[in-house]
Amino acid sequence: MASIITGDSVGLGLSCSATRKLYQTRNHSSSRLSFCSIKMVVSVEEEKKKKSFILKKSEEAFNAAKEMMPGGVNSPVRAFKSVGGQPIVFDSVKGSHMKDIDGNDYIDHVGSWGPAVIGHADDEVLAALAETMKKGTSFGAPCLLENVLAEMVIKAVSKHRYGSWCCNPRAPDSPGVPRAATYETLTAPYNDIAPMENLFEINEGEICAVILEPVVGNAGFIPPKPEFLNALSKIIKEINVLIFDEVMTGFRLSYGGGHEYFCITPDLPTLGKIIGGGLPVGASGGRREIMEMVVPAGPMYQAATLSGDPLAMTAGIHALKRLQEPGSYEYLDKITSELVQGIIDAGKKTGHAICGGYIRGMFGFFFTEGPVYNFADAKKSDKPGTY
Ligand SMILES: Cc1ncc(COP(=O)(O)O)c(C=O)c1O
Repeated sequence: MASIITGDSVGLGLSCSATRKLYQTRNHSSSRLSFCSIKMVVSVEEEKKKKSFILKKSEEAFNAAKEMMPGGVNSPVRAFKSVGGQPIVFDSVKGSHMKDIDGNDYIDHVGSWGPAVIGHADDEVLAALAETMKKGTSFGAPCLLENVLAEMVIKAVSKHRYGSWCCNPRAPDSPGVPRAATYETLTAPYNDIAPMENLFEINEGEICAVILEPVVGNAGFIPPKPEFLNALSKIIKEINVLIFDEVMTGFRLSYGGGHEYFCITPDLPTLGKIIGGGLPVGASGGRREIMEMVVPAGPMYQAATLSGDPLAMTAGIHALKRLQEPGSYEYLDKITSELVQGIIDAGKKTGHAICGGYIRGMFGFFFTEGPVYNFADAKKSDKPGTY
């Protein structure tokens, strides 16, 4: 049996380059970047007058880290390898602001890659965490808060599903993954119906599952063409399992994630980021007969020492409560549309080919005229250093 991955699983480069430009609101020392996209956030010239931007302590800390951790980081995009430049070591965050260890302030448009959708270090979340912490930080045994968050997530994603806290999905394009495993995985370009139909035709009866991001976030921001989702729903009806990787889109496109937004119900959604409210957590959920395959209900092994710990559950519960408040997604829509439009206007004004888009709390832009429907289109963007 094979499974299909559709959605251009490689290539954080574009979202990173965008991110780096946004992080570097006050970085005057980088000669490789112009700042067309961030002029609307803060005037670089004005900032230049105020103080010079120094990353000395960040540089020292990163050099020391390189001696101890692979590439100096615990998650690869933090090393800025695909965009170049000096990684920044941060000291504190609050709301929409970040401070690095050299004392520089930043307006953050990254939001810890998603989890900080209600703002960093939210007072209510911190107070709830402080209360929970008094009872201890991990039990190595079930805690009641797991039920509370599980119920909220299940209600949000679908009434007839249930879930399980987990961690560490593996990428099929990484050394260490046996060829036998990748051999069982077929890939098709996102938003392209014919290649996907072809794969189903050639491998008739052999494909067990299709996995994709409802909106591709790992190659920038690429929403699905409605006809692509329709074709996908038709092809996979009945015998195949549809998995939506909603780690990015979950609770961001809408409270019910991508599948609520696009009105398509996957058999299995995977979640992370926002459901931990800034603390590390991941979850998978789905139809009862699928989830009952997981130990101890079934034979598929999955375990983790700190899964479902009370602090992550507390932060998740309070982040989701905030998102349940009336108007929260309308507000996200409004501020994201202003940001994206500002970036596109600034890019065009300074003579750049640029396109972009957003849905509520998820956005992206490309330095190309577009349209961008898949990773191949995204790669037509100007390379870092030329925009
Ligand atoms: C779409 C998608 N799936 C899965 C993951 C992995 O999630 P985590 O880093 O929380 O393990 C990410 C991380 O960015 C992601 O963007």
